[in-house]
Amino acid sequence: MKLIAVANYEEMSARAAEILLEQVCAKPDSVLGLATGSTPVGTYQNMVTAYERGEASFAQCRSVNLDEYVGLGSEDEASYHYFMWHNLFHHIDIRPENAYLPDGKNLDARDACTRYDQLVSDLGPIDLQVLGIGSNGHIAFNEPGDHFVADTHIVDLTDATIDDNQRFFQRREDVPTQAYTLGMRPILNARLALLLVTGAGKAEALHRSLTGPITSTVPASILQLHNNLIVIADEAALSKF
Ligand code: PGA
Repeated sequence: MKLIAVANYEEMSARAAEILLEQVCAKPDSVLGLATGSTPVGTYQNMVTAYERGEASFAQCRSVNLDEYVGLGSEDEASYHYFMWHNLFHHIDIRPENAYLPDGKNLDARDACTRYDQLVSDLGPIDLQVLGIGSNGHIAFNEPGDHFVADTHIVDLTDATIDDNQRFFQRREDVPTQAYTLGMRPILNARLALLLVTGAGKAEALHRSLTGPITSTVPASILQLHNNLIVIADEAALSKF
């Protein structure tokens, strides 16, 4: 594991974007594993700026996102489809047909998960997987539990996650209670995993993930097994070390 300690969110975002752009320049048809949430927004802004300056093209890239709320589609502003188009895809030259997320509108969970697993496996190993971490230690929507799950699955979101994500919705009761999420297999198989962590609210989760036992009660702790992990964390996120 390589830990890059930075001062703040802006530096984290700049470093993360540099690594993503290096990846895309070195391998234009990269498979990018992308994440949503507040953490990667600045990274995506830097990628858009690089694209606008002509420093990178995503025309041959394929992307797979980590997760989507069950019941929400691209027309819902709180969906991760909407988030990705709004924050990144509309502003770069990735082809719409090459940008994938789980189908939140498919309420047949088995079908939705099987299709997404097939898609991810057809694309081959993810070249670079961007990850955030939940304050409860989740990665993607792999919530703390009594076992790790390898494949795409439906999850009941924990109260902590619903509380954290309430800020994207008008009312707490509007937050979906379930999501489809990639499991640990494609995350661990990614050629490079890039974990971005910012703010004091993540300090405990980051510390437990990197220094504690590998346990499904702290899902991100499984990243200790990743053989090519880069963590970019700011001072506040590193305050428990
Ligand atoms: P955040 O979410 O970036 O909005 O803090 C991260 C996560 O839950 O993985």
